[in-house]
Amino acid sequence: MDVIRLGLAGFGTVGTGLARILDTNGERIAKRLGKRIEIRRVLVRDLTKQRTFDPGTGVAFTTDPDVLVNDPDIDIVVELMGGLDTAKALMLKAFGAGKHVVTANKHLLAVDGLELFEAASASGVGLMFEASCAGGIPIVQTLKENLAGDEVVKMLGIVNGTANYILSEMTTKGMDFTIALSEAQALGYAEADPTFDIEGFDTAHKLCVLIRMAFGVDYPLDELPVQGITTVTPMDIEFARRFGYRIKLLAHAMTSDGRLEAGVHPALVPYTYLLARVGGNYNAVRLEGNAVGPIMLHGQGAGDLPTGSAVLADIMNLARQTTGRCDILDNTGFRNQPIPRADIVPPGESESKFYFRFTVADRTGVMASITRSMADHGVSIAQAVQDGEAGAKGVPLVIISHETRADAAQAVVAEVDAMDFSVEPCVSFRIL
Ligand code: NAP
Ligand code: HSE
Repeated sequence: MDVIRLGLAGFGTVGTGLARILDTNGERIAKRLGKRIEIRRVLVRDLTKQRTFDPGTGVAFTTDPDVLVNDPDIDIVVELMGGLDTAKALMLKAFGAGKHVVTANKHLLAVDGLELFEAASASGVGLMFEASCAGGIPIVQTLKENLAGDEVVKMLGIVNGTANYILSEMTTKGMDFTIALSEAQALGYAEADPTFDIEGFDTAHKLCVLIRMAFGVDYPLDELPVQGITTVTPMDIEFARRFGYRIKLLAHAMTSDGRLEAGVHPALVPYTYLLARVGGNYNAVRLEGNAVGPIMLHGQGAGDLPTGSAVLADIMNLARQTTGRCDILDNTGFRNQPIPRADIVPPGESESKFYFRFTVADRTGVMASITRSMADHGVSIAQAVQDGEAGAKGVPLVIISHETRADAAQAVVAEVDAMDFSVEPCVSFRIL
């Protein structure tokens, strides 16, 4: 039987996940494919590190990336290291050596994806990235193949397992943010630098990759509005619950008069929506096509086996290639290149309802000043609640607005924060 030989760059959470699946499902995979998939070499940083899984005696470990790309016996380089420079150099060398690459590296794809796809296609090799977005959910393949004939008009999703795990644990168990983050790290969900997860950057990386696949345009990462979950407190979760919502970190993108509106924000999601019920490390993506209508994909968005499963799907797709060559269509789902820049709706123009939590001194005239500021900026109030007794820290005053422009909401926050009764900066989130 033919053998597809892998060079694994990285043997951490996802690398060992892939190795475990190959170990458990190897026979089944060989039957389906008519080929065996074997790991031949593994690139790591530290050869002395204790590994949680032994890939077998036939697997050689190295710390030299060149050993992987120069080995003529390796068919596919599987990049599961993360990071930018080393991973990019490894991929370019692999393309040059005529090797396909499978990667889970959304950060690199968001930053240098266009260049890497060009380079892969120029060498006639594949650059596959199912695991880069939403872990085990087959979102890339869905956009590339299944919805290729649709015009996607809207995409909304939870695509970071760590942030969703933290918010879920805070909501359902009252867990402290820091403890929930530590647990997510221990479970292998978090990025090497977890600020990527909690500040929304990882969600932004995935959104950039998904926008290319869904809308066929490039939304530059540094222009994407991004808000993380570090300002979400147990108090906000409780207020959200009282108003009938759960707080989720969302990625959204939609076409609007030929332009593209997109961003990453924590948002209050009505608890009756499916998205509000996506818990733990699970992700979900809701897509709306002009032919298919709305569809929803749901599954584990982070972790060793779910992500390893997505990596394996790409490896098997490459192994099924009969010509041995891949072009730009195989890799990106689009024949026409280069992918044009998106015509972007300025973030300030995007509209939604907003949740504002002001922390103010409990004294006469405060509410009047805030509502005057809102009226001046055209922000209409739907509901308001003030709780608690005045204390050293002031009292929370929560206002839910009707639909309003993001720049108007920001102007209110800036104005009220500067008023002498404001005890803490206002916390504001969108409402779905
Ligand atoms: P990880 O557990 O930190 O593992 C990283 C592996 O890469 C380790 O084996 C490390 O070697 C090796 N490595 C890192 N830098 C290296 C370098 N410069 N040279 C050689 N080896 C290097 O990371 P992970 O969670 O598996 O994530 C890997 C990639 O998958 C990242 O791009 C991540 O964003 C993405 N991803 C992760 C998940 C997830 O659930 N974890 C899901 C989807 C996508 P040592 O073991 O010697 O330190
Ligand atoms: N850190 C990422 C997450 C891994 O938590 O979603 C999956 O991409």
